[in-house]
Amino acid sequence: MSLRLGDTAPNFTASSSAGTINFYEYLADGWGVLFSHPADYTPVCTTELGRTALLKQEFDKRNVKVLALSVDPLDKHKGWIKDINETQNCSVEFPIIADEDKTVANLYGMIHPNASETFTVRSLFIIGPDKKVKLMITYPASTGRNFHEVLRVIDSLQLTANHSVATPANWNDGEDVIVVPAVSTEDAVKKFPKGLNIVKPYLRYTPQPNK
Ligand code: BEZ
Repeated sequence: MSLRLGDTAPNFTASSSAGTINFYEYLADGWGVLFSHPADYTPVCTTELGRTALLKQEFDKRNVKVLALSVDPLDKHKGWIKDINETQNCSVEFPIIADEDKTVANLYGMIHPNASETFTVRSLFIIGPDKKVKLMITYPASTGRNFHEVLRVIDSLQLTANHSVATPANWNDGEDVIVVPAVSTEDAVKKFPKGLNIVKPYLRYTPQPNK
């Protein structure tokens, strides 16, 4: 059975470019992004890992630990990191798992046999501090992911976790958010002192609480 939202993210211990890693210990009490790419020394993956490295401060600010994965061996990862740093003007500091025996790939359903029998697809999981899977996305090998979108989702998830609000379509940081249906309007008036815009009883906006 493949993983679904709300499932507990499986723990694992794996070899990585930063040494042996236990996933839960690596995450500690923070959030996590675990993402796979098809192969080392490939162009789209090079840009993805570079972009992730350049966003380090943004992930740190949100208490998010990043962990990449492919089924290539450790020595290949180490050589490729030098290329990523050189070509993307970055410093890859997050670990890249060398999942040669596909243990982690199989745990997380990162191999889609009809796409490739051997390589992981571009899977990405956001894991909450409770170790539950909060988001799963899968991209084809030919499309690089948008890591600003990953940060946007993390912002939305953290707002929901901390303030009982959801975020509307195309929401961006700083824009009005939506009061979740579980909060009554009577409670919302007290909880959101910046005010409510009640468009319908089920559609209630409030300014972003943490701004
Ligand atoms: C890439 O990262 O560029 C890539 C990897 C596998 C297939 C196609 C592109």
